[in-house]
Amino acid sequence: MYSFKTDYSEGAHPRILQALMNTNLEQDEGYGEDRFSNQARELIIEKLGQANVDIHLMVGGTQTNLTAISAFLRPHEAAIAAESGHIFTHETGAIEATGHKVLSVKTEDGKLTPSLIQTVLDYHSDEHMVKPKLVYISNSTEIGTIYLKKELIELSQFCREHQLILYMDGARLGSALCSQGNDLTLRDLPEMVDAFYIGGTKNGALLGEALVICQDSLKADFRFHIKQKGGLMAKGRLLGIQFLELFRDNLFFELAENANKMADWLRVELRKVNIQFLTASPSNQLFPILPNAVISELQKNYAFHIWEKVDSDHSAIRLVTSWATPKEAVEEFVQDVRKNLYL
Ligand SMILES: Cc1ncc(COP(=O)(O)O)c(C=O)c1O
Repeated sequence: MYSFKTDYSEGAHPRILQALMNTNLEQDEGYGEDRFSNQARELIIEKLGQANVDIHLMVGGTQTNLTAISAFLRPHEAAIAAESGHIFTHETGAIEATGHKVLSVKTEDGKLTPSLIQTVLDYHSDEHMVKPKLVYISNSTEIGTIYLKKELIELSQFCREHQLILYMDGARLGSALCSQGNDLTLRDLPEMVDAFYIGGTKNGALLGEALVICQDSLKADFRFHIKQKGGLMAKGRLLGIQFLELFRDNLFFELAENANKMADWLRVELRKVNIQFLTASPSNQLFPILPNAVISELQKNYAFHIWEKVDSDHSAIRLVTSWATPKEAVEEFVQDVRKNLYL
């Protein structure tokens, strides 16, 4: 049984495990004040080409989102997200549990636009309703799409004009930035968004996300917020060592490239047998639409999510490739699709 369920089905890239082993008995400070975390932050700053940011190494995606969003908002303020956005659909109401409503918008492709945000602003006109203050986007999105530079610039300008905080969930930022057609770089982000995170968990780390706070007004006391939310790890060095390894050279991007290469290959091969896709996703998540009978056969040998019913005979499934997906796995999967389509 091979799993295309997620990009965190494997442990960690061997170089990361080796780095953890090599430093295992070295003593250092706790709570992210160790030299590995300091060096990792410096390296990320170098890659961003922007020294005026605060970087916090966090444990997981939900925890990063809820800590950041609740720290950035005042009690009556709310976040705006696409209906498919992770904070709206898959975080067990974590943001709401901090006291902030998440206002959702239906989208075609998982991406927010100024006009979609405007509809929320128009509706929330006075103090009898929550005040929309933060725009949550994810890149890549939960349905595999990516933001182009022009789209992000438009969002950024709109948010600035309307005093909205623009926050990017980068759980799969590596895959987004390595996708075909992407024209954004890490260096562009501090100019365009107020805060974002660089996902490690889904890109070869054992765990960990690097939150980058770009907007000065959002920086104060952030470590207090992390601690109060239970996220300040005593052994914060574990995060530092991992991010140091990911950014020491090009490992972070090499791993994302492998995930994308496998997805690209799958996409091309599935198209050859006329498979349609639910979304045009250039990243490591694909949503092919298959006959239900074929899906049932494939489930005997592969694990994947059934995403959405398309009609009475077809459903879209989600296939996620990872930094560790071998070519043989995708080749076998395609062969099995072919075999079952033509039975
Ligand atoms: C876009 C996005 N954000 C956040 C998360 C949450 O990460 P975690 O499961 O580490 O809390 C996920 C996990 O799938 C995700 O896809």
